[in-house]
Amino acid sequence: MSSQNTAPENIHPEFHRMLDRRAKEELLQQKGRVIWLYGLSGSGKSTLANQLERRLHEQGRLVKLLDGDNVRSGLNNNLGFSDEDRLENIRRVAEVAKLFSTNGTITLASFITPKKELRQLARDIIGEQDFNEIYVKCSFETCAQRDVKGLYAKAKAGDLKQFTGKDSSFEEPATGQADLVIDTGAESESQSLEKLYQFVSTQIAE
Ligand code: ADX
Repeated sequence: MSSQNTAPENIHPEFHRMLDRRAKEELLQQKGRVIWLYGLSGSGKSTLANQLERRLHEQGRLVKLLDGDNVRSGLNNNLGFSDEDRLENIRRVAEVAKLFSTNGTITLASFITPKKELRQLARDIIGEQDFNEIYVKCSFETCAQRDVKGLYAKAKAGDLKQFTGKDSSFEEPATGQADLVIDTGAESESQSLEKLYQFVSTQIAE
């Protein structure tokens, strides 16, 4: 699976003829933005993202949630968990997130995004001004205890290869790199949600 870095031949994009982003944002009365949640499988990303989506929706915000397991069952169902496939997964998702956010939608992306390089790729595609990275922190041991999907047990038994945190590495962000760290190993679910909600509210205020 190769990622396309150069402009393809015989393709003539005409973005200038399209109705611009501002018009969409005025219609929706909100600013488009990407909130990128990353962390180990089972760290709580999807739970938090789902609850945040509902809360913002109740307040009249148009939100789109992009989630690893969902996207991998459709658009990215030809990708696995090698470094190369994870990169292609994140590249495509970042492009999709950009399509939504530039259409005025508040876009929540929930992906393990295990390497700094991948987080940087998403930031580069989406653009610094529209992007926040939020680290959903939880130790491998705690995620393994929760094991909601039974994947940690499978990985331990050797039935699941390239599992993040086991035989495929997860790089923690450097101090200060993430715009927000949510420590789901130490906080209650409602504390984490409140922290996330407060942060996102400041980012989407007109
Ligand atoms: S990423 O590394 O490319 O960002 P992504 O978030 O899309 O991963 O998908 C992660 C989800 O796929 C996990 O939450 C889990 O349910 C499932 N999964 C299946 N196999 C693996 C694996 N080897 N490593 C991590 N997650 C896996």
